[in-house]
Amino acid sequence: MKDSYILGIESTCDETSAALLKNGREVVSNVIYTQIDLHKKYAGVVPELASRAHAAKIASVIKAALGDIIPDYIAFANGPGLPGGLLVGRVAAETLANLFDRPIIGVNHLEGHLFACELTGADKLNPLEFPLISLIVSGGHSELWLVRDYGDYKPLGKTRDDAAGEAFDKVAKLLGLGYPGGPEVSKQALKGDRNAVKFPRPMLDGSCEFSFSGIKTAVSYYLRDHKDVSVPDICASFEQAVVETLVKKAINAAEKYKVKHIAVGGGVAANGLLREMLVKKAAEKGIEARFVLRPLSSDNAAMIALCAAKKLARGQNTGDIRINPNMVVRSWPKK
Ligand code: KG4
Ligand code: ZN
Repeated sequence: MKDSYILGIESTCDETSAALLKNGREVVSNVIYTQIDLHKKYAGVVPELASRAHAAKIASVIKAALGDIIPDYIAFANGPGLPGGLLVGRVAAETLANLFDRPIIGVNHLEGHLFACELTGADKLNPLEFPLISLIVSGGHSELWLVRDYGDYKPLGKTRDDAAGEAFDKVAKLLGLGYPGGPEVSKQALKGDRNAVKFPRPMLDGSCEFSFSGIKTAVSYYLRDHKDVSVPDICASFEQAVVETLVKKAINAAEKYKVKHIAVGGGVAANGLLREMLVKKAAEKGIEARFVLRPLSSDNAAMIALCAAKKLARGQNTGDIRINPNMVVRSWPKK
C-alpha cells in the first residue's frame, strides 16, 4: 500500500512547529522553533511578539519538516490559542492545501496534548486504553476529562483562575528565577524541604475544578512577610502543594468514574515529582497513570498530525477550519 503522510502545523502559543507523520504512526520529522528567548525578559508570552515570530518562522519550519515529501493531508491547530498565532497557522495550512490540492483538517490543540501520550519516538504507537481520565496541564490550561474513546469526551473540570504551568511561571518570577518557570522551580525544589512551608491545597472537596492563584498568592505573602527565605525550600513546598493537588484530583476523578487509566499531557507533564507521585499513588489504587514522553510534552506539531490521523480514521474530516482562540474540547459528531 502507498504510504500516506500528514503534515501537522502548530502555532497556538510560543512554539512554531511542523511535523510529518507517516501512515498515522511514524513521526518522520517534528521541527520545533521555540520563542522562549524572545519572551524570557518579560517572564511570559507577549502575543504581538509571538505572532510576528510565527509569521517569520513558519515557512522555514514547514520546509524543514516536509523535505521532498508532498503530504496527503494538511492538519493545523485551530484553537485554543493566541489569535495571531492561530491565523498564521491557518494561512500556512490553507496555502499548502490549495497548492497541493489536499484536504485540510483543523485540530484542537488540547486533544493534541492527549494523543501525544501515544507517541513512542519509534515506528509504532502505544495506544491509549479507554475509558481513561485525561489530565491536561500546561501554561494555559489545567483540565480533567473523562475520555470514553477517541473523540468521545465528558469535560469534568478546569481551572477557575491560573493554569498549573502559569502558577509555576509566576512563582519563578516572584523568586527571580528564569522563564519558563516550571523547570527552574523544579530544579531548585530538588535541593529544598517539601515540608518547609505549608502552602494551601485548594479545592480538595471532591470537585474536578482547579484553582492555583491562591497558592501563588500564598507564596507572594510568604515572601513579603519573611526575610532571608530559602529559595529551594519555597520551590519544594510550592511544587509539593501543586503536585499533590493535581494527583489527588486525577485519582479522585478516576475513582469517581471507575476507570483504570489516567493519561497526562501538556508542558507540566514534564514535571518529575508529578510523574513519580501520580504513578505511585495511582498504582496503590490499581490505576495505571501514563505520561507523554518528556520531549513531546511541550507544544509540537507531531501531536497535531497524530490527532488528525485519528480523526481521519474515524471519518471526522469535517473540513471546519475556523480558528477559535477559546475552543473547548467537544466530542466528535457521531458517524
Ligand atoms: O504545553 P506547553 O508547552 O505550552 C502551553 O500550551 O501552555 O506548557 C508550557 C508550561 C509552562 O508554564 C512551563 O513552566 C510548564 O509548562 N513546565 C513545567 C515543567 N516544564 C514545563 N511545569 C512544571 N514542571 C516542569 N518540569
Ligand atoms: Zn500546549
